Amino acid sequence: MSSELITNIGQLVTNSTEFTGTQGVARLGVLADAAVLVEDGRIAWVGPSADAPSADSVTDAEGSAVLPGFVDSHSHIVFGGDRAGEFEARMSGEKYSAGGIRSTVGATRSASDEQLRARTRGFLDEMLAQGTTTVEVKSGYGLSLHDEERLVRLAAEFTSEVTFLGAHVVPAEFAGRADDYVDLVVGDMLDVCAPHSKWIDVFCETGAFTVEQSRRILEAGAARGLGVRVHASQLGPGAGVRLAVELDAASVDHCTFLTDEDVTALAGSSTVATLLPGVEFSTRQPYPDARRLLDAGVTVALASDCNPGSSFTSSMAFCIAVAVRDMGMTPAEAVWAATAGGAAALRRTDVGRIEVGARADLVQLRADSYVHLAYRPGVPLIRRTWKNGIRSSSR
Ligand code: NIG
Ligand code: FE
Repeated sequence: MSSELITNIGQLVTNSTEFTGTQGVARLGVLADAAVLVEDGRIAWVGPSADAPSADSVTDAEGSAVLPGFVDSHSHIVFGGDRAGEFEARMSGEKYSAGGIRSTVGATRSASDEQLRARTRGFLDEMLAQGTTTVEVKSGYGLSLHDEERLVRLAAEFTSEVTFLGAHVVPAEFAGRADDYVDLVVGDMLDVCAPHSKWIDVFCETGAFTVEQSRRILEAGAARGLGVRVHASQLGPGAGVRLAVELDAASVDHCTFLTDEDVTALAGSSTVATLLPGVEFSTRQPYPDARRLLDAGVTVALASDCNPGSSFTSSMAFCIAVAVRDMGMTPAEAVWAATAGGAAALRRTDVGRIEVGARADLVQLRADSYVHLAYRPGVPLIRRTWKNGIRSSSR
């Protein structure tokens, strides 16, 4: 048994009900002059520095802020190639469309397992260096029996939060035969992918899958014991958000074009609305209205959606900064959404908070307040991270 005391924390964001209220800044459960004891990968004690127990080793946080590690509940980081050319064209006025996914499918199918593994590992290292300690990873750039199985299997080498997204778009070889492709997804493809997956997801949007097809796919996944997540209302309004609520999805992601009915449905549910600021940044679409959701009582998460098409950022701090600047969130709400909100979107209680028994996933900033994450956009503010109690430092 080994223990480490992190002491002299100027501002500790716990997100813990032990220290929190339920609204605004109070929800962060902030403690001043605090310390945290980490023992064998778990948090063993939280309290004032002055009362801290002794430990095998001591880390002095020198008055800086410490937060739960970011929980990035939406990423697509197993893929080949990139789409820098598509991004450049978009910045000259081209419109984003779901069809771009197919070009990444070609590059992914022609990449070897070892190439995909190395790439994924690189993104996860990049994420950890930026304070992300839990990552959900989706398939969705294989779109054949063989390649979807490969992607979920490779993702499962790195995370327990693996999502089968065989229904990302209809692949070119099934053009005009979408229902035949759905048959494959809910049949043989689900059979080979379910053993490696925790979740099922579908892109329920014009140009991808209809609400009827989405229902079929999600229900088939749920019948196999997979949890439900949905991509919906990214490119326009639709029935995907209500379908997600009806199926008690853990999360419905994007939520850029919402009707009042969608907001009411979300507010009365345990489905988290996961907002992905990197997408609107990179597609030049209007940002989702986080304020409207929060005011209605909806639980909101922020995630990167890291993927080569619509959002090629792995930075949760960037998402926080954009959400504060352009989506009506306060810094406290955005930090909560990127930590505890992400955990809620994955239905996890052991991450996204700093309290006794939780996983020792923490981030120390090069700043004395969490506000700096929004206040100093683009600045590398992560000084140290702990994942499962294992410490890494940047510079
Ligand atoms: O979440 N919306 C669907 N899927 C991804 C985009 C994937 C791509 O363009 O390659 C997303 O934004
Ligand atoms: Fe996505």
